[in-house]
Amino acid sequence: MCGIVGYIGDKNAATILVEGLRSLEYRGYDSAGIAIVDKRKRLYLLKKKGKFKALTDCLINRQVAGHLGIGHTRWATHGEPNEANAHPHYGNTRNFLVVHNGIIENHHELKLALKKDGHRFSSQTDTEVVAHLVEKFYKGDLLSAVCRTIGYLKGSFALGVICMHEPDILIAARKDSPLIVGLGKGENFIASDVPAILSRTRDIIYLDNNEIAKISKTQVKVVDLKGKEIKKKKVRITWNADSAEKAGYSHFMLKEIEEQPQVIERILRHRIKSKTVTFENINLSRAALKNITNIQIVACGTAYHAGLCGKYILEKMLQIPINVDTSSEFRYRQQIITKNKTLIILVSQSGETADTLASLRAAKEKGAKILSICNVVGSSIARESDGVIYTLAGPEISVASTKAYTAQLMTFYLLGLYLSGIKETITAKQLSRYLKEMEKIPDCMRDIIKNQKKVKKIAHEYVDRYHYRLAEQFKFLEDDIVQFKDPKKALELAEKWASLSHSAYGRRFGDFPFLYLGRNVNYPSALEGALKLKEITYISAEGYAAGEMKHGPIALIDEFPLVVCIATKSEVYEKMLSNIREIKARNGTVLSIATKGDKEIRKKEYSNYIIEIPEIDDFFSPLLVALPLQILAYQIAVGLGCDVDQPRNLAKSVTVE
Ligand code: M6R
Repeated sequence: MCGIVGYIGDKNAATILVEGLRSLEYRGYDSAGIAIVDKRKRLYLLKKKGKFKALTDCLINRQVAGHLGIGHTRWATHGEPNEANAHPHYGNTRNFLVVHNGIIENHHELKLALKKDGHRFSSQTDTEVVAHLVEKFYKGDLLSAVCRTIGYLKGSFALGVICMHEPDILIAARKDSPLIVGLGKGENFIASDVPAILSRTRDIIYLDNNEIAKISKTQVKVVDLKGKEIKKKKVRITWNADSAEKAGYSHFMLKEIEEQPQVIERILRHRIKSKTVTFENINLSRAALKNITNIQIVACGTAYHAGLCGKYILEKMLQIPINVDTSSEFRYRQQIITKNKTLIILVSQSGETADTLASLRAAKEKGAKILSICNVVGSSIARESDGVIYTLAGPEISVASTKAYTAQLMTFYLLGLYLSGIKETITAKQLSRYLKEMEKIPDCMRDIIKNQKKVKKIAHEYVDRYHYRLAEQFKFLEDDIVQFKDPKKALELAEKWASLSHSAYGRRFGDFPFLYLGRNVNYPSALEGALKLKEITYISAEGYAAGEMKHGPIALIDEFPLVVCIATKSEVYEKMLSNIREIKARNGTVLSIATKGDKEIRKKEYSNYIIEIPEIDDFFSPLLVALPLQILAYQIAVGLGCDVDQPRNLAKSVTVE
């Protein structure tokens, strides 16, 4: 899951690559590199370890001219993040340069064979074999050399290839990793994702698996592995580049949190026409849908949590069994699929998640009908499914998913209404009551966003509590140093403490784990709240079904963990209150997410902190509960000085297994 970009034309390639890579940084940010070729066949190659800024800092005050180039931003899979492992990679000579997103699974055997032929390797990456193979097969035609190379590759790839002998050609190829070609006037582009080239062109071609594009500044020819030309459709992008910009916000995450009311409004406007739910690309007949007797939902991470909530929603509306699995488990499990009876629903923001895509293919092979809920238009999962429902959330850049999650939830409610209409499991009265309730959601979300200061205050109080505790530890350190007569030993101890406390925030927060508890339709909300906190603050956090507390997790309770209890007014409200009482009886610290106006839960015997959400039918409350949990995680991350939009070790879309 790296980002690649390429340019050929008359403009300054370096400027265009830098601009493109900046918007792809969310795909990986442990090193970056560019290779630029000028008309006199001179190569400029620059690779830097670390965030993209390290590369751009190096480019300041350097005149890098050239009309052809490829660039890469990396999320390491093979070999640690360093300059040698950064892309672009080259063969024995620097005549063939390659950027790659994906994994070459048979790189080890290819490397051994190439070494026997005298090829020398300078990195630990899987990608480098591609450059060596192209070099080996080159007989004066770069396209043929790449086609032949691809015949040897197992695994997934999106490739950008250039060669010093043909400085007027850029080659792009893909299998199981996304790649698009951008069409300009007298210039053309390649990129992993649309925002990278959107300020330059709106006309694009989505490459499909095993397609290779030969690109000059005026022409794009797409061929299959045998070199046969394929006619491709040009797609016009209609959304704006500003939706992929920060627009004055300090972080994409906050911008995307605050966009949620508009996203939900957009979904409702688009999907509900004259009190009827419509999906334009569902591609499954009413008769086929009526026949469905069970549904299997498959997804990863946040999308999996949306899927779990989808189970509660669809079970209630359709009264048929719904299973939910993480993609990485589903794909290797015995999949029980009954032809024409089982519907597979895949959920994915990016539409490129490797395990979800593999699950799609496995289920398809068994004859299942596949419906996907995707955000990225034209993504692999969207294209390979029988039907797709786009979530209409707009580009989501922050690694921590927020607006895509609530858009997925809303899509499940609408799908529930749509299917229950077909299966006749809902009355007209119920339908109209649900629609009325759903229409309230955008304003309720606005209310939460307007009052987010309260969440910020709680988050920062919690950060202060941590800092206070850290200061206590340092006090202890000072006492220890004073007691040591041997200054060398004292120094050693000081260094040990300093490195401990300056290492991962997770460890620094060791005494302050978070627990998130919810029941019923808000059990998935608890899991999602914990995931949000973990991924951007590195604080250890777990989500549990509140009823499970007594079966183990309650052993964790003392005054240190913060227990976030989702206790909105619902049929399980009383049960939640008794869970909270159990926590308080053990001196626990409780932050309650409660319904506005609930006086009971404000009492000291229940809540140390309270965050209110507007009153809504509890069936729809996950759409609202998500927001304060996202804001809480965000504000703690900001308070701790964490890199909110680019948390360590993560990347936006996981296109490797
Ligand atoms: O693009 P997808 O929805 O398929 O991605 C799934 C997960 O990788 C993703 O939700 C991940 O868990 C996010 N970082 C969560 O914020």
